Amino acid sequence: MSRSDTTLPSPHKIVVANWKMHGNLARNHTLVDGYLQGLKSLSQADVVICVPYPYLAQIQSLLSETHVAWGAQNLAKYEEGAYTGEVSAGMLCDFGAQYVIIGHSERSTAYCESDENIAEKFMMAKRHGLTPILCVGETLLEREAGVMERVVGKQLETIIRLFGGEAFANSIVSYEPIWAIGTGLAASAEQAVAMHQFIRDTVSAADKSAADTLKILYGGSVNPQNAVQLLNQQEIDGALVGRCSLNAEQFIKICQAVPENSVV
Ligand code: 13P
Repeated sequence: MSRSDTTLPSPHKIVVANWKMHGNLARNHTLVDGYLQGLKSLSQADVVICVPYPYLAQIQSLLSETHVAWGAQNLAKYEEGAYTGEVSAGMLCDFGAQYVIIGHSERSTAYCESDENIAEKFMMAKRHGLTPILCVGETLLEREAGVMERVVGKQLETIIRLFGGEAFANSIVSYEPIWAIGTGLAASAEQAVAMHQFIRDTVSAADKSAADTLKILYGGSVNPQNAVQLLNQQEIDGALVGRCSLNAEQFIKICQAVPENSVV
């Protein structure tokens, strides 16, 4: 069975904006207006905006009558309790979030998040009906040493070992090589495609039907120029965009790089 024969929540490629720790009420409003203006004539891609927690209420009110979805950039691995500063999955759902980024390298390195912690957050998102966007990727040293598949494999295997391959059904994995994030040096289409195939094969070996419904995005210095080649690859189901998502014109151009009639 080909991947397009399966029942997916949406057959479209998906472009996700990760605003990281940028924005304020006024700038967010202007940026979203710019997005919505440009996205009026775009039907070939699903679009999601992942905002800092304090702006979830604002993004909900700006997007609730539109076809653009929203999400957060992290969540707690606990349901609730005495966890000062944490934000639960239930709280994200209260503000209409449908997506949550999990295990971004900017968090896992700065806050020492283990693969086990990330796996627990992944499952917490799923239990609440949120679509997790799990970030995986290797450092430059790891790529130069040729161990990138071992590194990414271990990140996936932790979830498979703890929760089974079925956890990946209708989920999203984003391949974000750490050396490509914020450096202006994106992975080549060949490098990305090879890793995307490895990711799908790894999940498929654990649960074939889950792998068929998994979307695999590329993230790391995506811009309007390289998006054309990256998003035209059949193995690349979309993009996770940092810097260029802070400029409506550039973000729209990236969305427009998704080929018409492409299905995942
Ligand atoms: P840049 O697009 O700024 O490289 O960031 C990528 C990223 O980290 C998306 O999550």
